[in-house]
Amino acid sequence: MNQEQRQAIYQQAKDWVLEAGKTIRFKINDPLTISTKSNPNDLVTTMDRDTEYFFTSNIKQTYPDHAIVSEEGYGDELESLDGTVWIIDPIDGTMNFVHQKRNFAISVGVYQDGIGEIGLIYDVMADVLFSAKRGEGAFKNESPLPQLSENKSFYESILGLNHFWLCDNRLVDEKVMQSLVKTVRGTRTYGSAALEFAGVAEGIIDGYMTMDLAPWDIAAGIVIVNETGGKTTNAFGEPINMLQQNSVMTCNPVIYEQLIEEYTKKGRK
Ligand code: IPD
Ligand code: CA
Ligand code: CA
Ligand code: CA
Repeated sequence: MNQEQRQAIYQQAKDWVLEAGKTIRFKINDPLTISTKSNPNDLVTTMDRDTEYFFTSNIKQTYPDHAIVSEEGYGDELESLDGTVWIIDPIDGTMNFVHQKRNFAISVGVYQDGIGEIGLIYDVMADVLFSAKRGEGAFKNESPLPQLSENKSFYESILGLNHFWLCDNRLVDEKVMQSLVKTVRGTRTYGSAALEFAGVAEGIIDGYMTMDLAPWDIAAGIVIVNETGGKTTNAFGEPINMLQQNSVMTCNPVIYEQLIEEYTKKGRK
């Protein structure tokens, strides 16, 4: 994808993201129809589905040769990332959407032959758009985001992670993770993977690690974090496979080695 093609798709994607966000804000106090998916806490609403349909119907009409990977079932079943692929989470942070009516995001990534070209993460209620094009830097609304600080010590870092790391879990010894949270300055849990990626890109948190995310949770975030000099792998330093679920570690490279070598790999089950 050349710069001109990237710019044209970016502009279209951005227009759709802002329009979808405006619709959600307009309807934020309407009664919600909430259903559950894999378990009673795995929520989905008509707003998730309608927003996804807005994107998929527009993409299919405008770019019939592009493919779509998305959460709520309107996308395609893909076995490869060949060609242009839109990877969409219509509402990332549905639990926040339902319970808080804020702290959720629309996440749209556009990949070309498996390479992240465009990332858009829209904090809908705050009306803040994080965006990036590969090789062209990342932005928070119209302001360029600076490169992540190199003057950051492990002990002064704030990590995005949730409490499941501290409970008995299938990936990493919880004792090792307990020692991690005692070593760093602080931890945060936002409840939207996309907004945690945006937080890493902005440098307001220094890392985010999570056990099990889908491609639509991370596709846009990876592009944006890349552009501010951050690094993303799975929790053990292995490459992310964008066609399946992954554990995820995204962070300021200054703390990456220590996180992987002294904690996740060391405590790996
Ligand atoms: C969820 C959020 C949450 C993360 C979950 C995701 P959803 O996405 O990103 O922060 O911990 O694993 O599934 O379902 O609200 O789009
Ligand atoms: Ca969901
Ligand atoms: Ca999600
Ligand atoms: Ca979602």
